[in-house]
Amino acid sequence: MTAPTSPAAPIDPTSTDAWAELEAHNLELEGSLREWFDTDPRRAERFTHDAAELHVDLSKNLLTSTTMDLLLQLAREVGVEERRDAMFAGAHINTTEDRAVLHTALRRPAGSSPSLQVDGQNIDEDVRGTLHRVYDFADKVRSGEWTGVTGKRIETVVNIGIGGSDLGPVMVYEALKPLAQEGLEARFISNIDPTDAFASTQDLDPETTLVIVASKTFTTQETLTNARLVRQWLLGGLRENAGLTAEQEQEAVAKHFVAVSTALDKVEAFGIDPENAFGFWDWVGGRYSVDSAIGTVLATVLGPDTFEELLAGFHAMDEHFAAAPAEQNVPLLMGLVNVWNVNFLEAETHAVLPYSQYLHRFPAYLQQLTMESNGKSVRWDGSLATTETGEVFWGEPGTNGQHAFYQLIHQGTRLIPADFIAFATPNHALVDGEQDVHELFLANFFAQTKALAFGKSAEEVRAEGTEGPLVAAREFSGDRPTTSIMAPKLTPSVLGQLIALYEHITFVQGVVWGLNSFDQWGVELGKQLAQGLAPAVAGDEQAISAEDASTAGLIRYYREQRQQG
Ligand code: F6P
Repeated sequence: MTAPTSPAAPIDPTSTDAWAELEAHNLELEGSLREWFDTDPRRAERFTHDAAELHVDLSKNLLTSTTMDLLLQLAREVGVEERRDAMFAGAHINTTEDRAVLHTALRRPAGSSPSLQVDGQNIDEDVRGTLHRVYDFADKVRSGEWTGVTGKRIETVVNIGIGGSDLGPVMVYEALKPLAQEGLEARFISNIDPTDAFASTQDLDPETTLVIVASKTFTTQETLTNARLVRQWLLGGLRENAGLTAEQEQEAVAKHFVAVSTALDKVEAFGIDPENAFGFWDWVGGRYSVDSAIGTVLATVLGPDTFEELLAGFHAMDEHFAAAPAEQNVPLLMGLVNVWNVNFLEAETHAVLPYSQYLHRFPAYLQQLTMESNGKSVRWDGSLATTETGEVFWGEPGTNGQHAFYQLIHQGTRLIPADFIAFATPNHALVDGEQDVHELFLANFFAQTKALAFGKSAEEVRAEGTEGPLVAAREFSGDRPTTSIMAPKLTPSVLGQLIALYEHITFVQGVVWGLNSFDQWGVELGKQLAQGLAPAVAGDEQAISAEDASTAGLIRYYREQRQQG
């Protein structure tokens, strides 16, 4: 690795005038959402903004116009817009790895002018060149021109990857599944738990299965192990069912394995023909890579046209983030509201609640995006963070969450800001008798944010005939902050807009806190220790004894149980 350039120190947000004013403002802030809505008929309108096709209502957050003005001042004082512009221009804002951060370049439309030149590279040409190869490959699989080694058409594309090489593709596939080509499905293997590889392949026909090994670094233990397991399964199956000979094995690997990586030399060393590999670049972070060649599984199963629409959606949000005035810039405002919730209202977690079954993996996807990006205590110049940083993101689709954890959001002792996401047009318009079921679903969406904001007072509970200690149990405090995000429909473009929205929200928070949101050193130690523990786990008594008492005890328990099992 080249030595990182010495980065300019981030501006400590707590040293700004805006921060001091926000602290004072927080102490003085009076009223409630009920009162603020009652006294300001224009509140909803003033806090609602459109970004591309997303319609975002921030009015049910615990803030006033003064709060928002001060948050915008904070953004100016710490230089959010300057850093945003630096990112779009390809500056090396990933300081610890001395890299540009250019996921936004992955979705620039073909023929963008002027072209983006970074570090002597024509980025647009590189991006479009790779996309062209990915689409060409996808078309061949989709048309049946690309077959397995026995000449059969591909029916299942298995993506092997983990983290950013898995979560984005799975989430998008699940969200847009109805657009999959008939007769073609995607499967995903990520976990090194052998159950994952077993369960995902056991009912597949090796003759009609194509495997994409997706790994930015091509060194990830889980992915390479799973790739070897699946290669074994595939070749074994072909030998057994189709009489594959040892001489035909190389051809079989070439017909059934492709790779996506920034490390094409390692792909070749693994035995995959570089002709069948799609590259990307070190300026794309793993968790920001679903719109790179990492999306090959998506372009193949959902189609290049769908992938292009997805990219166009990302780009529409990029344009909004790059150019919309600060007061209407939705990712900026949402990032600042998160800062307000975390640093001033002391929220520790943040729920994301999609009212869309097809978005059931969206919270899991956001967990990597937000927490691998901003789960840090050190700033981009190596100094300690001066504030609380990344909050815990979590969530489940509504209405399932309502019957599980919403109790705590409504009446618990903690403040849990929540983003509610819904679409006007259903994916499947079903009716129950006379009832449009999507309307029932959306009634729940509207009801929840209303209940959280405005609650139910003791008087209202009593007015329903409840008396005594039950009153308190049935009371809802309200003032539980939410943001409502709506869009016309869950299309590929809208999904791209949503993903880019959260990428940019994460960026804004990272800049305020002075973090490099684009490295992930925190995942390294566990990886290293897992490798070092292999001899102990395999039963080397000396190695077990060298471990701490807890780890040694757990390994011994494992060895005993395994021998009996
Ligand atoms: O978990 C750490 C991490 O490096 C993630 O950032 C990344 O998305 C994932 O591992 C997978 O890495 P790779 O794509 O290199 O296999």
